[in-house]
This record gives sequence, C-alpha cells and structure tokens, in this order.
Amino acid sequence: MTDTSLQTEMLSPTPQGIDRAAALLRDGQLVAFPTETVYGLGADARNGEAVASIYATKGRPSFNPLIAHVDSIEAARKLVHWSDQAETMAAAFWPGPLTLVLPLRDGHGISPLVTAGLDTLAVRVPAKACARDLLAATGGPVAAPSANPSGRISPTSAAHVAAGLGGRIAAIVDDGPCGVGVESTILGLSGPSRLPPVLLRPGGLASEDIEAVLGRALTHRNVADPLTAPGQLLSHYAPQAPLRLNATRFRSGELSLGFGPGAFDLNLSDAGDLLEAAANLFGHLHRLDAKGKPIAVAPVPDHGLGAAINDRLRRAAAPR
Ligand code: TXA
Ligand code: MG
Repeated sequence: MTDTSLQTEMLSPTPQGIDRAAALLRDGQLVAFPTETVYGLGADARNGEAVASIYATKGRPSFNPLIAHVDSIEAARKLVHWSDQAETMAAAFWPGPLTLVLPLRDGHGISPLVTAGLDTLAVRVPAKACARDLLAATGGPVAAPSANPSGRISPTSAAHVAAGLGGRIAAIVDDGPCGVGVESTILGLSGPSRLPPVLLRPGGLASEDIEAVLGRALTHRNVADPLTAPGQLLSHYAPQAPLRLNATRFRSGELSLGFGPGAFDLNLSDAGDLLEAAANLFGHLHRLDAKGKPIAVAPVPDHGLGAAINDRLRRAAAPR
C-alpha cells in the first residue's frame, strides 16, 4: 500500500506553494508541513483513505490516534464539545504548542481512523503562520502526526522529513527549522469540569505555565492505564544506536550530548537554556545517530520544557 515511487515535491511557504500543498491535501494526498513544534505529516482528516495512508506510510500502530489541526478556535468548536476550561486554555495558549482532548460533537465529519475509535478528539491550532495559512487554504481539519517513520526521531527540518519519508509522500512544505522543537503538550479536558485537566503528554508548553493560568495543579496521566493515552508507547522517538541517560562521565566509543558548559560532541545548550535545548533536541539526535555509535546524554533539569525533553529522552532510551 505504501507507494515508494512518488516524486516528492519540495514546496516553499509562498502563496503558490501553500495553494499547491492545499490542493494536494484536498485531493487525498499526504503533505508534510512545518509547525512550531515539529514537522507534521498531513492528510484531510475527513478522508478515511487519506488518513489510512498516514498509518501505512509511517508504519504506525492503528490504535494510536492522531491530532486534528485547525486554523482557529471557531474551527475547533465545530468538531468538539467546548467547555469553560477549553475556552480558558485556548484563549491563553492558542495558537501554540498545546493540544486539547475534548468529546467529539455530532456531525463532526472526522474519519474514525483519526480518533482510532475513541469518542474524543485531540485538536490544536498551531502557531507557525505557514501552518495556519495551509490549514486555511485547505478549508478543513488536517490530521497530522509527526512526519517520521513510526518510532523514529521526530523531524524538525524539511531535510529530516525527506530522509525518512522522501519518495513516499506527495510533498514537503519547507519553512526552515521548527522553533520549539518538541511536540505539543497534550491536555485531557474530557472529564467532569470539577476535576482538574489531565496532562497526557508533556510538551512544548510547560505544565507550570498551564497551572499558572488554571490556578490549580494538573493531574498527571496514570502510566498504568493504557486507555488514557493510547499513543504513549514506551519506546518511541528512538535513534538507531543505543542511548544512555544522565551521563556524567563518557565512555570511549560513545558520542556525548551535553547540556550546559563543557566539552561534548554536541551540546543541547551551552548556556543551559531549556528553550534552546528543546529546539536542538531532535536535530542533535539525528546528527549523532548518523554517526552510528552509542550516544550518552548529560542530565537535563526536569522543570519547564525539561519535562518534555526528559520524556522524549526516556522513550528514546527505552528497551526495544
Ligand atoms: O506537536 C505536535 O503535537 C505534532 C505536530 C505535528 O502537531 N504532532 C504530534 O502528533 O506529535 P503525534 O501523532 O506524534 O502524537 C499525537 C499524540 C499521540 O500520543 C496520541 O496517542 C495522542 O496524541 N492522542 C491523539 N488523540 C487522542 C485522544 N483522543 N485521546 C488521548 N490521546 C490522544
Ligand atoms: Mg510522533
């Protein structure tokens, strides 16, 4: 089913490039496009065959649901049951690296393959202008997981996408590197409104920032309950080579990935800046992985965006 003979078009984020990408999406083709977090592999969320080809092209387990991307709060409200908490979160953080999981509305039109049969939908409005232009030109929700083969490192540049999926998708819109560099934070809002929202995945929006706006602490996902976050496979975001975490000494034959001052093969941030480290994370892992040797990573503090960075590193290091 996966076509390896496609000539993948490289498109620029100009009006012509965006129109071409939107036409391909409306035609049921797969188009990779940049968001502020990572590059997404987009398909028309209402077209079951197009969504099926996302799963086939990525080699993604079919029980792992996708995020629907829309260009505005109004577009999101047509798909899901909106709530006061959703309004508070969207007003504070959309467009931006936050995904909200809410109950689906009747008449939503979303293919059941997007939700993998759940009665909730993950929805987000990305901040990157090029992504919103594409969503507006497409005129409907676009389902998009990260644009990498399933289980591999997420792409933060068009070159990463081309290396993983080139020849298998219709087009890639290239608008340079992603500014945030880790996937969106996913917040579950489908429970009773008196209960606090559930942090389903730490990501590009720090949970401390969400809690400051809510005025209450988030519940953290119960890792023992696979149903609360069906896509949170333990081994994920993995380089080909083994990865060792919290390394304070490096062994010979290992490549070192640092954080803060010091001599390393690559450094997430010399200055110890977590924003810079998140933006560099996947690109540095791609570069070290290309050298084909084991990788050891220095400790990264667990606050702010460090929670998302450590989550991705733990998955990359998990047994597989
Ligand atoms: O930043 C991002 O979120 C990127 C860009 C492209 O927007 N997308 C992304 O998608 O990271 P993906 O497919 O790699 O991750 C989506 C996550 C999965 O862990 C999935 O299980 C979860 O969202 N998810 C989707 N729908 C859900 C739902 N209804 N309930 C709970 N989790 C859901
Ligand atoms: Mg992914």
